[in-house]
Amino acid sequence: MKELSVNNLLGIKYLQPEDLNLIFETADQFKEVINRPIKKVPSLRDITIANLFFENSTRTRLSFELAEKRLSADVVNFSAASSSVNKGETLIDTVNNILAMKVDMVVMRHPNPGAGVFLSKHINASIINAGDGAHEHPTQALLDAYSIREKFGEVKDKNIVIIGDILHSRVALSNIFALKKLGAKVKVCGPNSLIPKHIQSLGVQVEPNLKKALEWCDIANMLRVQHERMDNSYFPSIREYVQQYGLNKTILDQLKKPITIMHPGPINRGVEITSDVADSEHSIILNQVENGVAVRMAVIYLLASKIKQYEN
Ligand code: CP
Repeated sequence: MKELSVNNLLGIKYLQPEDLNLIFETADQFKEVINRPIKKVPSLRDITIANLFFENSTRTRLSFELAEKRLSADVVNFSAASSSVNKGETLIDTVNNILAMKVDMVVMRHPNPGAGVFLSKHINASIINAGDGAHEHPTQALLDAYSIREKFGEVKDKNIVIIGDILHSRVALSNIFALKKLGAKVKVCGPNSLIPKHIQSLGVQVEPNLKKALEWCDIANMLRVQHERMDNSYFPSIREYVQQYGLNKTILDQLKKPITIMHPGPINRGVEITSDVADSEHSIILNQVENGVAVRMAVIYLLASKIKQYEN
């Protein structure tokens, strides 16, 4: 049986292209499972997974929980807002207490970049990064790339532009790593103040003009402005941001060809994207959400296979 080159999913940075393809092939099988009347397999009956969320989430948290339950794993959920973290307990103490309850795998979202890498040096359980600050969001990038592969047959040689707040986006960084490993051509587009200075060193080009970026691409991945990570004002006003970088139907109708629209969510309708674009026939936003469950089942299944292998 083919296996992943890693024991944790801490970032796309640490994966080989073969890992991505193995995850996609495994997700194909799970996508078939979750579209059956009985959406469940008994694969992980002997595995216990803790979902530790130190930051808000809707999609990622529900998607992981569904993926785990559809693999028949035992699941415990932890939310920092209602935990003893508020009484001063450290991350290591919190996790070690949960592991003492015989947990095999930890899915963690945390506001600090590198929190997953830090934890992996202190505990033995397998760790999946569900988003660490503005650093990486590997399962989002995997489900995004999987959705492109599903729509176009392959990711290689596709022209993909990521538009919006690139500076504060873990989705952007993980997408860039994944798409480049899979042979896509990637550009980023947004206000100069929201583009990281050394982004070209990752093999992507910067296109500041929205219309030029859209004319070039096959796929536009629209990102939200992450006000919660901003300690400064990065552009004069939301109104000006919308005028320069907001995607609406009039702009799309002026393009020479239709393009595919993606968004990781949550959407700020009327800011980075209008409702008529987000809900249009060219949008694959809800396909991304559906694929998220199959891709996360694949990641969990493949990492759990390695845990079982070490135990035997
Ligand atoms: N895409 C994403 O990470 O959404 P949530 O913050 O709702 O999990």
